[in-house]
Amino acid sequence: MLSAKSAEVVEATLPVVGAAIGDITPRFYDRLFAAHPELLRDLFNRGNQANGTQREALAGSIAAFASALIANPDQRPDAMLARIAHKHVSVGIDNEQYKVVHEHLFAAIVEVLGAAVTPEVAAAWDEVYWLMANALMAVEDRLRDEAAAGGDPADLWRPYTVVTRYQETSTVTSYLVRPADGRPVPASRPGQYVSVRTELPDGAHQIRQYSLSGGADGALRFSVKREDGGEVSGHLHDHLRTGDTVELAPPMGDIFLADGDGPVLLASAGIGNTPMTAMLDHLAATGSSRQVISVHGDHDQLSHAFRADLEQLTAKLPGATAHVFYERPLGEWPAERTGLVDLATVEIPAGTTAYLCGPLPFLRAVRGQLLAAGVAAADIHYEVFGPDLWLGA
Ligand SMILES: Cc1cc2nc3c(=O)[nH]c(=O)nc-3n(C[C@H](O)[C@H](O)[C@H](O)COP(=O)(O)OP(=O)(O)OC[C@H]3O[C@@H](n4cnc5c(N)ncnc54)[C@H](O)[C@@H]3O)c2cc1C
Ligand code: HEM
Repeated sequence: MLSAKSAEVVEATLPVVGAAIGDITPRFYDRLFAAHPELLRDLFNRGNQANGTQREALAGSIAAFASALIANPDQRPDAMLARIAHKHVSVGIDNEQYKVVHEHLFAAIVEVLGAAVTPEVAAAWDEVYWLMANALMAVEDRLRDEAAAGGDPADLWRPYTVVTRYQETSTVTSYLVRPADGRPVPASRPGQYVSVRTELPDGAHQIRQYSLSGGADGALRFSVKREDGGEVSGHLHDHLRTGDTVELAPPMGDIFLADGDGPVLLASAGIGNTPMTAMLDHLAATGSSRQVISVHGDHDQLSHAFRADLEQLTAKLPGATAHVFYERPLGEWPAERTGLVDLATVEIPAGTTAYLCGPLPFLRAVRGQLLAAGVAAADIHYEVFGPDLWLGA
């Protein structure tokens, strides 16, 4: 796919571009937002911009894509783009914006690398950019069409009415919402998320993702943990009440429970159990006889959201067991379940497919334990509640 000439130039310049990418991405975003302030206000997550995670994810993804192209010039590494494409569609970016990003990204590259960007170097990296952009656009077009299910793909945001608001713990609130436009609830797969668009007091429309934590006939449930200093989670907790309207994009996300009858392990920490609760709910609702191993880590019983759901859903599933770890349990609690999640005492059957969700240190530790227990790397799927800094890893 990448021409032989460009592959050579990209390979030769990758170390220089890779070393400079930490300087290129901030300049790119500064240029982009100076030219289009509305993108920072109403499209990009300004929390992720402030803490730098989105910049790191963008840089990592471009470097990883270029490296994969060099390793296999005849193949386009589409698989690694699925997560980005789902996120792009979920927040509503359109194909025209790829030209805008291209303009500011390449201006930033020239600003940082100066004369090193000869016409030959610029042309080679241009090819990488458009291979990546075209691959993303193709997946995004398909996802938009599927999500619209006969409607207009441009009609991304739909109004929903909050029919129930429920306090799961002192910091986690669930919202059960129904479409307010009379159209049916969109299809979703267990493990997927919705983007929620909120108008904040300064007039900005900020978008955040929330995994579906279950649902009911004609309704979706999502659950929000109030983050310290978090703009949108705090706003939803303080202002979104039963009867209110909230704007949601259709369910998206490349990590969902795949059909099958082999053993499945669902491991989460903290609020990472929202997609796991949806997966368990789905398994119970479909009367699954799969072997299901639920593993969850939390601070203590009071901070553990969906404790009752875990007990009830596990009880409904003949092949399910639950293993809960608390760092500081309240009252009596088994010693081997005290502390961080540790799979040493959990039997993991051959052929297990694992789904993980939680903070990065948790994902790293559990993934390592699963690999050591013989689970194939390809059978370990993970969701992260922020820009994926593993994309480039
Ligand atoms: C696929 C996916 C699924 C998700 N599912 C869920 C879910 O089911 N439930 C859930 O609760 N969350 C979920 N999230 C996380 C959610 O989308 C939000 O990121 C979360 O609610 C925090 O948003 P916020 O606006 O409250 O915080 P933000 O304002 O975006 O802040 C985020 C973090 O950045 C820090 N920050 C903000 N400004 C600065 C600054 N100037 N300098 C340094 N640091 C700063 C904040 O202190 C905070 O720790 C999911 C995320 C993804 C990507
Ligand atoms: C080849 C070009 C592009 C690449 C490589 C790229 C890469 C990425 C990556 C890696 C993420 C983070 C995904 C995750 O883990 O959650 C992301 C998210 C995002 N991208 Fe892109 N992107 C490209 C083009 C665009 C364009 C054209 C726009 C529109 C202006 C855009 C807007 C966004 C937004 C709004 C998010 C979510 C940001 C957030 O939540 O903080 N991207 N992109």
